[in-house]
Amino acid sequence: QTEISRVRNLGRVQFGRHEMDPWYFSPYPVELTEEEMIYICEFCLSYHAHLRQFTRHRQKCTLLHPPGNEIYRDDYVSFFEIDGRRQRTWCRNLCLLSKMFLDHKTLYYDVDPFLFYCMTTRDEYGCHLVGYFSKEKESAEGYNVACILTLPQYQRMGFGRLLIAFSYELSKRENKLGSPEKPLSDLGLMSYRAYWQETIVDILMDGRTDVNIEEIGALSAMTTNDVLHTLQNLNMVRYSKGQYVIVLTDAIVAQKEKQLEKEKTKPRRKIDPEKLQWKPPV
Ligand code: COA
Ligand code: NA
Repeated sequence: QTEISRVRNLGRVQFGRHEMDPWYFSPYPVELTEEEMIYICEFCLSYHAHLRQFTRHRQKCTLLHPPGNEIYRDDYVSFFEIDGRRQRTWCRNLCLLSKMFLDHKTLYYDVDPFLFYCMTTRDEYGCHLVGYFSKEKESAEGYNVACILTLPQYQRMGFGRLLIAFSYELSKRENKLGSPEKPLSDLGLMSYRAYWQETIVDILMDGRTDVNIEEIGALSAMTTNDVLHTLQNLNMVRYSKGQYVIVLTDAIVAQKEKQLEKEKTKPRRKIDPEKLQWKPPV
């Protein structure tokens, strides 16, 4: 386990139309660490030290989307479900790629126990990976996300929010409450907190101010713990006569109104549950 705390070991990475600067160490073969630029195929995720070799690969590679079932499609994104056991090499390559942007993720070899939910955008050239999350096939702790990543070139554009929303849609289908695996990175925590807040405030402002913590959980697939902590962080709970009372503070309402104003010019993308073609794996 010493390798994961090692420093950044790679130069620049060419990936599809983008170049990326890795943030952290990733255990690619050591030959690659001597290169100023390495090349990763955006479809099969194979890695190449030299442009010549990569160009030859691109002439042969036939993959145009992640190697799994497309389980969601709207006019903006598609999601593919990939089984770590069936697509071992692809999933290991995905883990290597994502390790460049994850500080303390240890998984990149034993991918069999995981499913990978990959979000892409589509154009005439194929389905381009934007981000993904992994999920244990069986999580004893009730985690609905193990690892989550938006590729850096797509960050801060609302894709992380879509990934998180999608993970909760899966939990709703499973009739389960879910929570992401801990510890979360700083960016992960910020994104989850933002998602949790928005989700809870939306439920409360939907004319249902009388709902309790359990009902918010049932409607959102969030654990009661995450609901309660979010409300506490936002100073929205009072404890009175032996029970919790949820209050929508003026500050929260004002913040929500500001967000709605912003959305008039830049609408927020949502996951449409009706477009999810998926049954929980048995
Ligand atoms: N600074 C401040 N707030 C941030 C933030 C940042 N750098 N990144 C996300 N947020 C918060 C904001 O509230 C944001 O909403 P806003 O843009 O409307 O203000 C909200 O999270 C959602 O942001 P979004 O654009 O949907 O997220 P993203 O596509 O950038 O993805 C991560 C978020 C966590 C997936 C992404 O940062 C990432 O891949 N990080 C590296 C990997 C990682 O740490 N994963 C989690 C640990 S397993
Ligand atoms: Na090179």
